[in-house]
Amino acid sequence: MTSAATSRPHIPVLLGAILERVAPVRGVWIDGTMGAGGYTRGFLEAGAAKVIGIDRDPLAHEMAVEWGAEFGARLELAQTVFSKLDDVAQGVDGVLLDLGVSSMQLDQAERGFSFMKDGPLDMRMSQEGRSAREIVNEDSEEQLADILYLFGEERASRRIARAIGKARELSQITTTGQLVEIIEGVMPRNKKPGQSHVATRSFQALRIAVNNEFGELVEGLQAAERALKPGGTLAVVSFHSSEDRVVKRFLRDRAGLSGGGSRYAPLQEVEAPTFELKSKKAIGPDGDELAQNPRSRSALLRLAVRTEAPARHVTAAELGAPELEGRRS
Ligand SMILES: C[S@@+](CC[C@H](N)C(=O)[O-])C[C@H]1O[C@@H](n2cnc3c(N)ncnc32)[C@H](O)[C@@H]1O
Repeated sequence: MTSAATSRPHIPVLLGAILERVAPVRGVWIDGTMGAGGYTRGFLEAGAAKVIGIDRDPLAHEMAVEWGAEFGARLELAQTVFSKLDDVAQGVDGVLLDLGVSSMQLDQAERGFSFMKDGPLDMRMSQEGRSAREIVNEDSEEQLADILYLFGEERASRRIARAIGKARELSQITTTGQLVEIIEGVMPRNKKPGQSHVATRSFQALRIAVNNEFGELVEGLQAAERALKPGGTLAVVSFHSSEDRVVKRFLRDRAGLSGGGSRYAPLQEVEAPTFELKSKKAIGPDGDELAQNPRSRSALLRLAVRTEAPARHVTAAELGAPELEGRRS
């Protein structure tokens, strides 16, 4: 998991790489993570008949009313989670997921996503449900340590969880600034240039927990499988290796490439592949994109084409997605 991933570029990364590989862009696409609409606009301009822009953040929809006006009925909006994208449309030509938090969300101090801006400890993309403040003040130290370790790969998870436990005995932790101070109090200062801030992993972990991001990813991939028509394309852009690992495992399994296991194991029925991979390896930015947009360096794109085989179910555990105890699917 890279620290650079906390900061997202405004420019849609790997858009050119996607358009080039699916050309000619036609039919109906679902952008499951519309945000400020970089990919939605890109697909509409490249020739998609229609794009359905999904985002759980009401603000993304407020903004889309303005920038999307020029596309008229070719842009349809749906404020929901991408794990339910097949409730919005079926038989689509493409599904795009650009995972994570948007730079727009990070930039707004009042959303509480950034350790660099003091604001309320919130982090809810959909602006409803349990906030980071509730998790930080109400979960046990053990639960907090699990969140930091599983979702942030934070090795000092127990130390930080203990410090949070101690601090909240004195008063509620209500701001991002307070949390940063608590973490800084128990972590050695990073001195080397380019090293990430000591709160990076903890903030990432809390955000992932607040928004159930791995649960959404596991369900979202399956929803895309149900919604795509044969020949339709699934494109997933991720910035964290832990997210990409889940996408990779899903697609390799669906393409029938997940390895045969032991040759002494009982023979299992081979299920028909539901996807064909566009490339076995993840696609990264090329030299031009890197030069124009250095923050694209950790982006990974996976592309696959839907076959005619029926969709099937897979659990988070089977995809190796990190899960908290008691929340297994
Ligand atoms: C990385 S940003 C995408 C930015 C977008 N591609 C753009 O061009 O601005 C991810 C966006 O997806 C939304 N999002 C994240 N998880 C989601 C989910 N499970 N369902 C729906 N929207 C989600 C976030 O609110 C955020 O706006």
